[in-house]
Amino acid sequence: MLPLSVVDVSTALRQRIEVLRSELCEHNYRYYILDQASISDAQYDTLLQELEVLEAELGEPVPASSPTQTVGAPPSQVFQSRSHGEALLSLANAFSSDDVTAFVQRITDALSMQELSFIVEPKVDGLAINLRYESGKLTVAATRGDGTTGEDVTDNVRTIGDIPWQLIEPESGATELPDVLEVRGEIYMSRASFGRLNERKDREGAAPFANPRNAAAGALRQLDARVTANRRLQFFAYGVGLGGRKIASSQSELLERLANFGFAVQQTHCVTDVEGLLASYQQLMQQRSSLPYEIDGVVYKLNNFALQERIGAVARSPRWAIAHKFPAQEVVTYVKAIIWQVGRTGVLTPVAEMDPVAVGGVIVSRATLHNMDELTRKQVYVGAKVIVRRAGDVIPEVVRAIDVDAMAELPELPEQCPVCAASLFRSDGEVAVRCSGGLSCPAQLIERLRHFVSRGAMDIESMGDKFIAQLVEEKKLVDIAGLYEFDYNTLYEWQGMGERRISKMQAALATSKQRPLGRFLYALGIRHVGVTTAASLADQFGSLDALMQSDEEMLLAVPDVGSEVAGAVLSFFAEPHNRDVVERLLAAGIDPEAPKKKASNHPLAGKTVVLTGSFSAINRRVAQEQLRALGVRASGSVSKQTDLVIAGEKAGSKLTKARELGIEVADELQLLAWLHSSE
Ligand code: IVH
Repeated sequence: MLPLSVVDVSTALRQRIEVLRSELCEHNYRYYILDQASISDAQYDTLLQELEVLEAELGEPVPASSPTQTVGAPPSQVFQSRSHGEALLSLANAFSSDDVTAFVQRITDALSMQELSFIVEPKVDGLAINLRYESGKLTVAATRGDGTTGEDVTDNVRTIGDIPWQLIEPESGATELPDVLEVRGEIYMSRASFGRLNERKDREGAAPFANPRNAAAGALRQLDARVTANRRLQFFAYGVGLGGRKIASSQSELLERLANFGFAVQQTHCVTDVEGLLASYQQLMQQRSSLPYEIDGVVYKLNNFALQERIGAVARSPRWAIAHKFPAQEVVTYVKAIIWQVGRTGVLTPVAEMDPVAVGGVIVSRATLHNMDELTRKQVYVGAKVIVRRAGDVIPEVVRAIDVDAMAELPELPEQCPVCAASLFRSDGEVAVRCSGGLSCPAQLIERLRHFVSRGAMDIESMGDKFIAQLVEEKKLVDIAGLYEFDYNTLYEWQGMGERRISKMQAALATSKQRPLGRFLYALGIRHVGVTTAASLADQFGSLDALMQSDEEMLLAVPDVGSEVAGAVLSFFAEPHNRDVVERLLAAGIDPEAPKKKASNHPLAGKTVVLTGSFSAINRRVAQEQLRALGVRASGSVSKQTDLVIAGEKAGSKLTKARELGIEVADELQLLAWLHSSE
């Protein structure tokens, strides 16, 4: 008989293993099927690692159903199941340089070779997809599912611009296209598309997506492919399944071939030793926030395919590759207080003040909760235990509260503005609650001034936040024009400020007077006019005067301007106070620079063109961008100013209107010819 203590230990081990297995299965289900993870990725990794260690400790055969042996979750019932030609494996994780050293050691031992070539790729935070091409044509696109069988999302995948429907044939002499070829890669959503999606008016009231990965998963698993198309998904190819090994002899060659077939592939590094791997890891970690999409680590792959095959795979992952994860960007902390901030347009925003924690190398102690609806959805109250994450780059956010106390009370909206005590109001259909104090509310004035001097706006460098707050608190100015009217020489006495700093400030103000028109329009802080819309307005009207004299129809002819933006621009310039501020700014010498016309000799250059209906060979949005690059005004609505309408399938009212107005109409083939003629 075994001594009692040994029996106890193994029973406890087994129990813990069972708990971990069932918890991890539940998390897999929530993550892969429901797109509603309830723990952070880092917490998931910790549980999985613990299970791996305990299973090894127990020393018994591990069942194939254990989360350490499976990849993802079985397909849901909504989409048709599709089995992959070759299984989609996942990757083992490395969390430290020791793990990386051990990975390289295992390979050098297995191959009895010292100098090996590895390729380092960014690990895109998205969803794996298997694309099946038959005779070069895309026939099936399936999600990973459980690694063997996934969900058929072909219709949705066809809306992704980076995924070719037809592969570009290799040049003669190169290896031929296999009859069946599986291409693997990651579908993802860029940070920009993610931001736009969460801000979209038609999603108002809907719960915002927690991160681009969730948003991409939601977009891909839509029953209506038009919804997917609207969400602007993207794709990077990084591997092959069935038929793939024939087309290249190494990962670096494969990526080249995939790019030649028409796929987007990522920048990679090729290195030969552990130091090289770790240096690339550091380099990518530095670059992380400047990439337009989120990455959560790097992937090291042995470059040579023949060597990869020699060392093979274990249960769920190949032995020739490993994912080196970046440190957790999600951590748990507690909410100490919830305060209300008043923004530039008077909107009251709840902000959580938390016990400081390090998230991805930065100490975080505050995060916005955006509005009352979001605060309620995330169940954040004083004392709540919350997951905090840094979304890719810098902005920390509360993902949600966990272990919620059902008895806890959520904070209530204040009854009046916490800064100026003015009454609050809510416009029809808006979630946001605003202070009615306007510029007499110091908080609103400070924020407007900060926006005006900020980088993307007038970029007046020497005007720090603190200085602006002092100007307002001491009532030295009452609006943005005051920035140019204030007598800065009085700062010697008022602030005891040095001569150099004062002249620097004056020089910065003087330079700001010739900012491009788009930047000036953005700086004015007109509602709904962000950087891009401001630039479009500047491009279309060419001068402040022309914009101020425009009407709704002219505004609606501007790309990306809908009735809401048009209304906001008109009411901004109709307001006597705003006209007075603009006049005083001009009187102070502000002379916004007119946008330069793009030089182009393309036949459509300078024309106002509207694209409508659906196109089969090109994404409409991509076509619009390409036209714009050729100096075309790609507009959203048809008016007398429109020179040409390009109509795809099922074009509706815009085409009818074009015909009524006698505007020239072209079709998709002509569009493609125009775009190609520019190449
Ligand atoms: S290679 C057998 N390369 O990360 C090799 N995967 O955690 C399989 N991923 O399942 C994958 N970027 O969904 C590879 N450059 C990259 C990747 C990448 C992101 C995803 C992929 C994979 C998961 C593993």
